[in-house]
Amino acid sequence: MVEFTLSKNSKVTKKNIPPLKGDYFYRVEIYRWNPESGEKPHIDTFDIPRDECGSMVLDVLIKIKNDLDSSLTFRRSCREGVCGSCAMNVNGKNTLACIKSLADCGGTLKIYPLPHMNVVKDLVVDMTHFYKQYASIKPWIENSTNPEREHLQSEPQRAELNGLYDCVLCACCSASCPSYWWNSERYLGPAILLQAYRWIADSRDENKDERLDTLDDAFKLYRCHTIMNCVDTCPKGLNPAKAIADIKKLLVQRG
Ligand code: SF4
Ligand code: SF4
Ligand code: FES
Repeated sequence: MVEFTLSKNSKVTKKNIPPLKGDYFYRVEIYRWNPESGEKPHIDTFDIPRDECGSMVLDVLIKIKNDLDSSLTFRRSCREGVCGSCAMNVNGKNTLACIKSLADCGGTLKIYPLPHMNVVKDLVVDMTHFYKQYASIKPWIENSTNPEREHLQSEPQRAELNGLYDCVLCACCSASCPSYWWNSERYLGPAILLQAYRWIADSRDENKDERLDTLDDAFKLYRCHTIMNCVDTCPKGLNPAKAIADIKKLLVQRG
């Protein structure tokens, strides 16, 4: 799905390729780059016995880090698809390593950092710009009333948030979106636009109009050309393209 493009200075070389040991092993090829080493990026190859690690891609990475190469660098925390930190490109598709089953990967895993993001080290990418864009959509309820208890919602109002609140901000979708690749300085991308719609759709928020005003911009919103990579790749099964279409519909409706 994704045509992976390397970060600056990233001509990848292959090294440390051991002979294939057979079906009993996972062959794991991993992008490596340590900016402090002065070396070019390269691919390291490991053969991992299938019965010596758990059932997810993250288990393979943890096995390598624990037993073979402690310098391998990747993010992870929750190990159950909730924190969004283990996003990476596995066999050509952006996903969360902790919920990507090895059974779905075949015998060979090619693991790269998220495409079109600057690499900090190995599989860790720089999320600074992504989080700045997230902050720009004011991801909190804006409500001037000061109730003595929680703002209540009806069941239908709460249901409006299904498929939106579940986003774990992993950035898999944005890093798969060609429009975001080429315009990420100004286009907010599918993840942030889905989050923007999450607050617009929240019955407790009073600033829907102001939020729509902010998004009504040729670059922030209208760079989405419904290519749908975002839907295809989201490891949580969400539909950022629909959220983007819903924002556009609201803008048309209010005229
Ligand atoms: S539908 Fe829009 S946001 Fe999703 S990948 Fe395509 S251009 Fe990007
Ligand atoms: S919509 Fe899906 S892929 Fe995009 S940030 Fe949220 S959970 Fe990740
Ligand atoms: S470790 Fe939290 S989502 Fe993978």
